[in-house]
Amino acid sequence: MRLRIIAAGSWMAWKRNSVRALVVMFIMSIVAMSMMSGSVALSDSVETAALLAFKNAQPDPGKYLRSWTGNDPCGHLWNGIFCKQDPSTNLSHVTEIRAMNFNLRGKLVPDLGNLTRLERLNVMNNGLTGQIPPALGRFGNLKLFLVNNNDLTGELPPELGNLTNMTRFQIDVNRLSGRIPPQFGNLTNVKHLHMNNNSLNGTIPVDLSRCGKLNHLILDHNQFSGPLPPALANIPGLTIIQLDNNPIGSPLPLSWAGISSLLKLSLRNCSITQTTPELGSLPNLTFIDMSYNNLTGVLPSNISSHVITLAFSNNQLEGIVPTQYAALNEIQNLDVSNNKLNGSIPAFGSGTSLTNSSQIVVLDFQNNNFTGWDAATSDVASRPNKEVWLTGNPRLCGSSSDNVIVPQPTQLLVCQPTQSALQVYGTVVPAGENAASCRSCGYPEVAVARGSTSAANVTCGCAVPIIVHIRLKSPSFTYMDSYVDYFEGLTARALGIAKWQVRVSNATRSPNLYAQDITLFVFPASNSSFSQEEFDDLYTQFASWIVSAGDEWSLSIAGPYDFLDFTTATASMKANGLDTGAVVGIVVGAVAASAALAALITMVVLRRRHADYSRAKLYGGMSLPPGINIKGVKAFTFAELARATNDFNVDHELGQGGYGKVYKGVLADGIIVAIKRAQEGSMQGATQFYTEIELLSRVHHRNLVQLLGFCNDRGEQMLVYEFMAGGTLRDHLIPTEIMGFARRLHIALGTARGILYLHTEADPPIFHRDIKASNILLDERMNAKVADFGLSKLAPMPDLNGAIPQHVSTIVKGTPGYLDPEYFLTQKLTDKTDVYSFGVVLLEIITGMFPIAYGKNIVREVNRAMETGDIMSIADPQMDTYPSKQGLEPLLKLALSCCQNESEARPRMVDIVRELEDIWRNTKSSVSGSMKDMPSSTFSIDMSHLGEPSSDSFQDVSYGMVNSKGQLEGKIDPR
Ligand SMILES: *[C@@H]1O[C@H](CO)[C@@H](O)[C@H](O)[C@H]1NC(C)=O
Ligand SMILES: *[C@@H]1O[C@H](CO)[C@@H](O)[C@H](O)[C@H]1NC(C)=O
Ligand SMILES: *[C@@H]1O[C@H](CO)[C@@H](O)[C@H](O)[C@H]1NC(C)=O
Repeated sequence: MRLRIIAAGSWMAWKRNSVRALVVMFIMSIVAMSMMSGSVALSDSVETAALLAFKNAQPDPGKYLRSWTGNDPCGHLWNGIFCKQDPSTNLSHVTEIRAMNFNLRGKLVPDLGNLTRLERLNVMNNGLTGQIPPALGRFGNLKLFLVNNNDLTGELPPELGNLTNMTRFQIDVNRLSGRIPPQFGNLTNVKHLHMNNNSLNGTIPVDLSRCGKLNHLILDHNQFSGPLPPALANIPGLTIIQLDNNPIGSPLPLSWAGISSLLKLSLRNCSITQTTPELGSLPNLTFIDMSYNNLTGVLPSNISSHVITLAFSNNQLEGIVPTQYAALNEIQNLDVSNNKLNGSIPAFGSGTSLTNSSQIVVLDFQNNNFTGWDAATSDVASRPNKEVWLTGNPRLCGSSSDNVIVPQPTQLLVCQPTQSALQVYGTVVPAGENAASCRSCGYPEVAVARGSTSAANVTCGCAVPIIVHIRLKSPSFTYMDSYVDYFEGLTARALGIAKWQVRVSNATRSPNLYAQDITLFVFPASNSSFSQEEFDDLYTQFASWIVSAGDEWSLSIAGPYDFLDFTTATASMKANGLDTGAVVGIVVGAVAASAALAALITMVVLRRRHADYSRAKLYGGMSLPPGINIKGVKAFTFAELARATNDFNVDHELGQGGYGKVYKGVLADGIIVAIKRAQEGSMQGATQFYTEIELLSRVHHRNLVQLLGFCNDRGEQMLVYEFMAGGTLRDHLIPTEIMGFARRLHIALGTARGILYLHTEADPPIFHRDIKASNILLDERMNAKVADFGLSKLAPMPDLNGAIPQHVSTIVKGTPGYLDPEYFLTQKLTDKTDVYSFGVVLLEIITGMFPIAYGKNIVREVNRAMETGDIMSIADPQMDTYPSKQGLEPLLKLALSCCQNESEARPRMVDIVRELEDIWRNTKSSVSGSMKDMPSSTFSIDMSHLGEPSSDSFQDVSYGMVNSKGQLEGKIDPR
């Protein structure tokens, strides 16, 4: 306890607030009590052994299973373990493993099968390898089997057919192979079979027709072959059949056209061979995709009037578009392109979705033999959010796609070469209904319009939402845009809360797929944040699919979702009544102390909750949801950044720092970025990471490397920065490169301005703590930008009385040679610590020397030269052109004043910037005398933007730089 009291003491010293002090004391006393209360194991020892066997099989880089120690998983804080007590024996049994997004990389060991009371196995979104052990068939009580999104291989064990209580089976996105065992027909309670994106093969077993409760059969992206089992039509509540991208190669069973419950039939690219079946007896059908098959004959004339998405493209269909299609009220995407259809296109235009200006509708008739179209259809093409594509119909658009023969404006539009309907309208970022007009709120709060949806009845407020990230993997709509409102309502009703409490904050459609990635905000009913209990309840509802289990959702056009993430910005702290100020305080206060304190708080929160059903050991595994946008900083998924770097290929490595490796990446939109990937040990808690991102997102200055995005996904933390083509300053101070004086001065001034911004303009102020030549990056025009302040600590904040503490006591961090000697001795961090390091950089810029080399210290060497008056001897010979001794002297003096031992004696950044600007000005006036070897006209243009050296002002500087711009552009340098 001693150590902890000291830790808390320093925190309190920083923030003198007796209420908070009491909170800390209170917390500590609870910890003390709980530690003394002894620990008699209340868990089943067989189950404990099974969990430890699983833990031991995991490389666990994110240390998510660190808390799995001891012999009492149900009693002691095991991250992600949930139990129920058996009243007859008083023994607790493990009922749930919730280890999604834990970055686990090991195997599912057979010992897990010893958890015979397990109801929910949730190890989604990890990197688990190896096979699914047959022993998992011993989970007699299992309801949810969630191993999707891993790296599992091998075949499905027939023993899984014993899991007769199972309602949900998700093995999608793995590398599983082999057949679906016929024993799966015994899964009489299963509602969801999600096996998409594997390498499963063989036929779809007819036995599945015995799964009488099946709703969703999702098998797309596998190697299944035909014939398809007609008996599936016997399942009374089947709503989704999704088989896309399988080499089926046989006809659709006629019986399937009679599955009257069917909402969605998706057989894209399945080599289906037959004359198109009539689908008129599928009254509830909202989605049909039979494109990219070998269908012949005519389009089905009679289809459900509820159809939203209807795709028959890329077949060999003949005949006309049935006139009934023109009356579809909900149509969003009709795609009959690339067939042999003919006749005149009927009179589209009066359907509800076609007349509603806010709804997107895309009608694609490209590459057929249509001979005419109705004026109503033509009119549609001129309406907002509507597109009608006719390209590739020679009679309508001419024989080549850009040869437009019919001279009407709308025809010009529709006869242009176009993309696939799935490539348009990718992202929706809806304005949060009435909240848009509410005032903006400070992080982590978000503006919320409470009350009814009519603007007159809302009250504006600020609250911390829970952020839920889900993926609709099989919606009936193509474009989410028109369904945002619908979806918010559906979710709110499923959760039993008011509609205004749910807001879609972002929706992105997966490229060329119908799947939608959605970021949801869920707001508390009246308070400014959710209580721990509410948080836990909502989490459980999403993670257990309780939220979508009702008929309203499971029969809805939203389809099933993948649960990707669930978090709230300050959950772990809020739960203890510590406000955001305290969070910042802890970060600022003392690093070691805050870590200890945060750990204690977490322990207390969890300890408090030790009940027969222990809940919410979430925070250890809490990660930020990909998709949340913090003021212009984009959240990337792990997959996106892996793609950008070719799976973090060694060829993309730019360098390695204390934080981890840095990669060059090319994003999907072609933008080149630098990606910093935290290595093991550099990862931060989610709250701290989030706090830091939020801080960085507010830092904008042209002399600071801009943070573009971040990733907190799959147990990895990464920062995405603008890419700096010029590499580091240090790389240019080399004997083989000549750099002129003006260029050097420009870099020094830019660097100083960047640091000045961090000290005075950033809110809260930031002390860099690690200014050095290799942290100063250059863009392709040699403009300097300070990097790596992302890992710096905040400057001290005013306390409650408004007084600013003079320094921050913290662990000494920095690089030898640049390290402020006073800071090193006293551990007191001030703005002058950065001033010292900047002085050293300035000396490097002038002399080209390293801070420490061959036992020589740059500060000492320059001081000596100044004393002897021989300053030209230490000027960098690679400077090529520079002003006289009189020009160099003030710069050296400034640098040395920055490097004084006593911080008091050093100038402030603002003085330094002013002085550098003066030197800049004087250099210009002395230029005609001392810089004879350069064209004075260039120099006067060059110096004409005094005080504001912009990138353009130096663009034409050709002197002093041997490396041409071209050479620099291709250069990739470690940071
Ligand atoms: C799990 O049960 C099996 C069979 O009962 C046993 O052989 C194995 O040792 C158990 N695993 C552990 C880790 O105790
Ligand atoms: C499970 O399915 C298999 C094959 O379909 C069958 O032979 C077996 O009897 C079934 N077992 C039970 C317990 O129903
Ligand atoms: C069609 O949908 C309606 C409304 O969701 C539902 O009540 C009805 O049972 C469905 N029809 C069939 C045959 O499932």
